[in-house]
Amino acid sequence: MMDDSIFLKALNKEKLSTPPIWYMRQAGRYMPEYRAVRKNFKNFLDMCKNPEVCCELALQPMNAYNLDSAILFSDILTIPDAMGLGVKFLEGEGPVFDNPIRSPQNVIDIPLFNPDSLSYVYKAVSNIRNALPANKPLIGFSGSPWTLAAYSIEGRSSKDFKFTKNFIMSNDAETHLLLTKLTDACFLYLRKQVEAGANVIQIFDSWANLLSDSDYKKYSLSYISSLIASLKNDPITSSVPIILFAREPKCSRELLLETNADCLSLYWNTNPKDYIYLSGKVSLQGNLNPKILLESNETIKKETYKILDVFEDYPGYIFNLGHGLTPDIDPKKVSYLTDIIREK
Ligand code: CP3
Repeated sequence: MMDDSIFLKALNKEKLSTPPIWYMRQAGRYMPEYRAVRKNFKNFLDMCKNPEVCCELALQPMNAYNLDSAILFSDILTIPDAMGLGVKFLEGEGPVFDNPIRSPQNVIDIPLFNPDSLSYVYKAVSNIRNALPANKPLIGFSGSPWTLAAYSIEGRSSKDFKFTKNFIMSNDAETHLLLTKLTDACFLYLRKQVEAGANVIQIFDSWANLLSDSDYKKYSLSYISSLIASLKNDPITSSVPIILFAREPKCSRELLLETNADCLSLYWNTNPKDYIYLSGKVSLQGNLNPKILLESNETIKKETYKILDVFEDYPGYIFNLGHGLTPDIDPKKVSYLTDIIREK
């Protein structure tokens, strides 16, 4: 029964003796099982468009570590791809867009998002939901409107997103139009994921770090807040817990809380002690530096137990990393990490 899920209990701010565990990017290239499937596809997005394969990939880390939640196997860039921006993943380069946003007119020309254009994602959700045991929730997800806008304008990953910063400074009205279109798309997309069986929603604001405090409020948090408000006001999604991951946001903790997210996912360089005073107000998730998993077992244990000690009495704590697992991590270290958390 879903009532037995310790992940959902933690999202409901219950105090637990052992925290629920899942890992950002728990399905991915660090797993040999993943690489064996991945080699059958040239283009990563083609693999995401195959719901049977997505189901198999989402279950791999569940089978390997018996984690407390699965996450949909897909990508945040499905929405810009569906909007006609032509997303490709090039070896060693990450995502590259065929038709990035290059002018204000390009924003105006983006067609109304049709949620049915991503039916392959909802099929993956229902396949995964059907394959999971009843007490293991499934996380659906989207990028934040800002993070999706940054990729769509820049057209690729970048260290400083210079083109994007220039674009938003010179085209205020079209920037807000783009963010509005993406917010509407994320809402319809997440609602469809919930209809298909997603039990929890995570919003990834992976490029929160690009913006100053005041710009972060203006271009990112206000749209995340409006997305969360739409989800909380819709009968289909109103009872689904929402986790917000923001990478190094420059704003205050209070502003993150004001988005009305049920859980904040802390980036690895955040000091967990700074968040303890939020006890009873919000669940917290995090935040081991994934790079620690490249160290010895002794170091992994020491650093993990430091975090567990901070959250020992926190009602609604979920163990996770402070960002995603990377391809250089040995799956044995992920096993070790999972075991020592449950043993403590
Ligand atoms: O278990 C899981 O989390 C798998 C599902 C998942 C993927 N991407 C699969 C993926 C999720 C939740 C994501 C989210 C995602 N995608 C984010 C937010 C999380 C974060 O890391 O901040 C972002 C920014 C993206 C965009 C993206 N997708 C990039 C920049 C890249 C290339 C670089 C990289 O990290 O690999 C991807 C590709 C991608 N998405 C892979 C996987 C398994 C690797 C693709 C491959 O095998 O070639």
